[in-house]
Amino acid sequence: MKWNKVKKSKSIIAAIIGLFIIFIPIVGSTVSAQENADTFNWTRENVSNLTINDKNTAPTFNKDELVKLSSDYYIWDAWPLQDLNGHPAVVNGFKIIFALSVQKDVLPGKRHDLAQIQYFYSNDGKSWESGGPVFKAGEALGSRQWAGSSIVNKDGKLQIFYTATGQKNEAGLSYDQRLATATADVRTTNTGVSFKNWSKHQIILEADGKYYQTKEQTGNEESSYAFRDPYFFQDPKTGEQYLLFEANTAGKLADRPYNNEFIGSEEFRQNHVTPESSKAFNGSIGIAKATNKDLSKFELLPPLLEANYVNDELERPSVIVKGNSYYLFAKTHTEKFASGLDAPEGLYGFTSDSLFGGYQPLNDSGLVIANPTDNPYQAYSWMVMPNGTVTSFVNYVNVDGKDMYEVGKQSPEYQMEHFGGMLAPSLKISITRDTTKVLHEKQQGVFK
Ligand code: FRU
Repeated sequence: MKWNKVKKSKSIIAAIIGLFIIFIPIVGSTVSAQENADTFNWTRENVSNLTINDKNTAPTFNKDELVKLSSDYYIWDAWPLQDLNGHPAVVNGFKIIFALSVQKDVLPGKRHDLAQIQYFYSNDGKSWESGGPVFKAGEALGSRQWAGSSIVNKDGKLQIFYTATGQKNEAGLSYDQRLATATADVRTTNTGVSFKNWSKHQIILEADGKYYQTKEQTGNEESSYAFRDPYFFQDPKTGEQYLLFEANTAGKLADRPYNNEFIGSEEFRQNHVTPESSKAFNGSIGIAKATNKDLSKFELLPPLLEANYVNDELERPSVIVKGNSYYLFAKTHTEKFASGLDAPEGLYGFTSDSLFGGYQPLNDSGLVIANPTDNPYQAYSWMVMPNGTVTSFVNYVNVDGKDMYEVGKQSPEYQMEHFGGMLAPSLKISITRDTTKVLHEKQQGVFK
């Protein structure tokens, strides 16, 4: 929803819908589901329902007992090669995962500035061999590459969607973010996997300034900018293909009303103070529909979810389908919640019987998995697989009550000692209608 007078626009919308109902039979046109899209507003009231309990708290793990995916690189934000239905794909007996990576001499907090995508393969789905960088030097777009999604496409090729961050060969580091794709043949031998015959990389989506904030619309007072983290999704109900992505609601901070419509019910608003500073929090989960079979053309649609006044970064969104319901997930940091809200670093989720609109926060607030309270940065970037297995990476452990800003001020040795940069033990969650539960830990590296 755009930052205009909501009440007024609601009555205008109602009038327009009325006119459409009258005219559709006459002119014979139809209104697509997307044009009727009802962006879900995740409210401050929803987040205020949050409790941390044994149903949503991950068990503590011991980083020193875990196996590193690579001894030379930190890795984070991993994702598996998926079939078109979202299940981990198996290519001639091999499973393949992708992850952001950086050499281990880089300060963990600086890793985003140098990230590149590597891949790993396995024939038991638990222990992974390094395949090295996915892309040949100089071929990927952006000055660095951020998270993405990989599928076996209709031609049996690897198709990777990723975030092209910054511009190739830029003089200073910029934070432009665009969504890119490329395809390659997957070659396997008895011992490993490689990618050959790469297509040219191309940009497929950029923020439009109408539904999604452009870099230019983002002012200095807004702490973060996002148009990133594509996730491929084929809707089993319709066969339509989409990319979900992390974004911000369009428009400039100065033009945003201090508007209570997004905050919660009348009763909640009377009893809750919303600080003016929360205007700068405008995270959203975007969606675009594929308009060709090659998945190289996409049309931006209104966001599935907005978190105006609530949260600034809804990272690596994804969706799974269970029964008749869609389950939409994103992860976020505790410091990305607007002031006045107290919510943990965690995985958050929403459910609806429709892909577009009608979402309910899971467990009333949205919180699905929180890190243990005595280890609040233990893991991050949870990804929910269709069978309820959840993967993540080891972030910072045992930081003795320091927040992320304080961790960033510690010595390089401290930061490197407490950062994991490897896969965390997987988790299993149950999902029953609009409630979830952390059931148990699974082996590190298991994606299924
Ligand atoms: C989450 C994240 C992603 C982004 C990547 C950059 O861990 O912020 O949203 O793609 O890290 O390193």
